[in-house]
Amino acid sequence: EKCGYASFMLKEIAEQPKAVADTLLGRIDGSGTLSLDEVRIPPGVLREVDKVVVVACGTAFHAGLIAKYAIEHWTRIPCEVELASEFRYRDPILDQQTLVVAISQSGETMDTLMALRHAREQGARVLAICNTNGSTIPRESDAVLYTHAGPEVAVASTKAFLTQLVACYLVALYLGQVRGTKYGDEIGDVVRDLSGISGAVERVLGTMDPVRELARSLAHKNTVLFLGRHVGHPVALEGALKLKELAYMHAEGFAAGELKHGPIALIEEDLPVVVVVPSPRGRSVLHDKIVSNIQEIRARGARTIVIAEEGDEAVVPYADHLVRIPVTPTLLQPLVATVPLQVFACELATARGNEVDQPRNLAKSVTVE
Ligand code: M6R
Repeated sequence: EKCGYASFMLKEIAEQPKAVADTLLGRIDGSGTLSLDEVRIPPGVLREVDKVVVVACGTAFHAGLIAKYAIEHWTRIPCEVELASEFRYRDPILDQQTLVVAISQSGETMDTLMALRHAREQGARVLAICNTNGSTIPRESDAVLYTHAGPEVAVASTKAFLTQLVACYLVALYLGQVRGTKYGDEIGDVVRDLSGISGAVERVLGTMDPVRELARSLAHKNTVLFLGRHVGHPVALEGALKLKELAYMHAEGFAAGELKHGPIALIEEDLPVVVVVPSPRGRSVLHDKIVSNIQEIRARGARTIVIAEEGDEAVVPYADHLVRIPVTPTLLQPLVATVPLQVFACELATARGNEVDQPRNLAKSVTVE
């Protein structure tokens, strides 16, 4: 049931605040302690973990890329992220102290399933992050942390992605908690910030009219580029993937620091470039670097579409279009920064006359190889 929405995708975008809140529900107690009893891997085992490997495909892979920043920062455990379709055909170095995190909305993606089997054969423990109760991936894993996004019908993943991010943060924080890392105080703060994040997603959704208008005005374009740094880089990749699969446009995401190593050659007059700007607070060096990147591409004619925090004035002179997102801790910013990119892709695809729930050539769950 679309409940009055023009598409399942629009409905699922709108459901994100609830999906995020539901995924947090009952997992953080009043004192800010995480209780993930459902993660049936004993704390003793989690204390011994010396490497985390995240495997996933598509949008779930982008959630994994963001998880790496959180896991390494809060736990100091090295974390690798790999496309399941590559991992399964490699000869990866794994043992019983490796925690493999398999992320999948459907729980049926063949490559992710094969990757987890490959990992278990070598003695690694597998924790699934999944949205579908009783599906194959959680059944074959040692433990599962369910995302509570509810059924996702549209082929393009939206609310599942946000809840995968929440689950990844929970896993990272929980690992930090059981291991008692030196980031203990920070973890308490983040847990509090996470509790308010559903409201922040709601606020972003309330300000999307200019994004829709902008998307419609760009419907005739052939290419859109996306740039980001740090956790903004996977957000850029996700923005580009949404646009490819829905609008059938050439869209690419880059790490902004790579511009001079090649991609800047693509910049030409009036080329739309979406830039995800990190918070000017905290790691301000990242922010300053991206402001220079925006200046560089604009000087070469790019039409800059800047996604920046409320109150970030430094970007204003270089933004042809400015999209404001709420102030959020750096690692959590993808939860709010991705939303405008979903709306942008959905609206642009609709303006091009595409069927957003069922894009051509795609299936909701890729159970074949
Ligand atoms: O069900 P899964 O999370 O394992 O699916 C993985 C990808 O196939 C999926 O995220 C795909 O990339 C989406 N169509 C992206 O919107």
